[in-house]
Amino acid sequence: MLTSKLFGTLNNRLVTAYTIENAHGLRMTLLDYGATWYALEVPTHTGHQNIMLNTDLAGYAEPTGYFGKPLGRVAGRIGEGQLMMNGKPWPLPANEGTTTLHGGPHGYSTLWWQATPANDHVTFTRTIPSSLDGFPGDLTASVTYTLTDSDEVHIDFTGTSPEETVFNPTNHAYWNLNATDETIENHELMVAAPQRFEAPLSKVPTDHLLDVTGTPFDFTTPRQMGPQLAALRDTPERGIDDIYYIGEHDADQPVATLSCGDLGVEFYSKRNALILFTANKFGDELHFLEKKSRPYVGVALEPQTAPHAVVNPDFGDIRLAPGETGQAQLRYHFTY
Ligand code: GAL
Repeated sequence: MLTSKLFGTLNNRLVTAYTIENAHGLRMTLLDYGATWYALEVPTHTGHQNIMLNTDLAGYAEPTGYFGKPLGRVAGRIGEGQLMMNGKPWPLPANEGTTTLHGGPHGYSTLWWQATPANDHVTFTRTIPSSLDGFPGDLTASVTYTLTDSDEVHIDFTGTSPEETVFNPTNHAYWNLNATDETIENHELMVAAPQRFEAPLSKVPTDHLLDVTGTPFDFTTPRQMGPQLAALRDTPERGIDDIYYIGEHDADQPVATLSCGDLGVEFYSKRNALILFTANKFGDELHFLEKKSRPYVGVALEPQTAPHAVVNPDFGDIRLAPGETGQAQLRYHFTY
């Protein structure tokens, strides 16, 4: 069942919130501004509990947090703000030094989308002219969020362009499964990846894969996050902000699982990589509705084709031929 209501006003435009509730009382709320995933509420014996970090409209308009936002056309970092298209450099607008991060300054997360609501899903659509986001080709894009009666959220992305372009979207939801104001240090995490990409401080990945076995980055079997993060506290990153390389895998097996007490999320994706970000440097500059902002207040898991595919096809193909429809799906299964 879907309901909608006025959420607020941003830059003199009305923002609408859409809430879908499934047969078990699981609820998903979305905003048309940014095609944002605002909340996921699980029914508990004391009422509904939101398990995503969420903020107010000023927080969603702020360009660097990406709370619950879709990231596109290309998630992750493109170094030196440029693509190679048919052997020629294609300069992109940068939004982190010389790097183009999460679709750049005018990526999916910053845009207004047209919502088409239905009983169990909302489709957000729009055209993104090349002149707007700086990527090659005008992109006709959609992001559909579906809540199923099997307690899953599916996010389906499509994109098509009359000219050759690149397409590698994902979603940047942050999770915190605590009912009280605690961090994710008490969560158990599994990431089905034995390797992560080497990256310098710019975080633009290199060709080199590092084995995680026996290091604080190793979540190949479920591990409590606190001790792993404590072991990284004195590193420049002060936690995890890494691209894990999953490689070929069975799409029916979760690429990651996150749990805390009775609550859990399983993440499914056919794609070969996942960014894991533990909000290492979050502080008072951010404001969440149900949690105090501080390091490790949430964890983002962002399945995608390895961002390094942009420069090295050995790590995947994110190119979209003219007229071809690019598709990507993220799947989340909730237990409660
Ligand atoms: C992550 C990225 C982090 C940070 C974050 C947004 O995907 O790896 O470095 O930019 O998004 O705050």
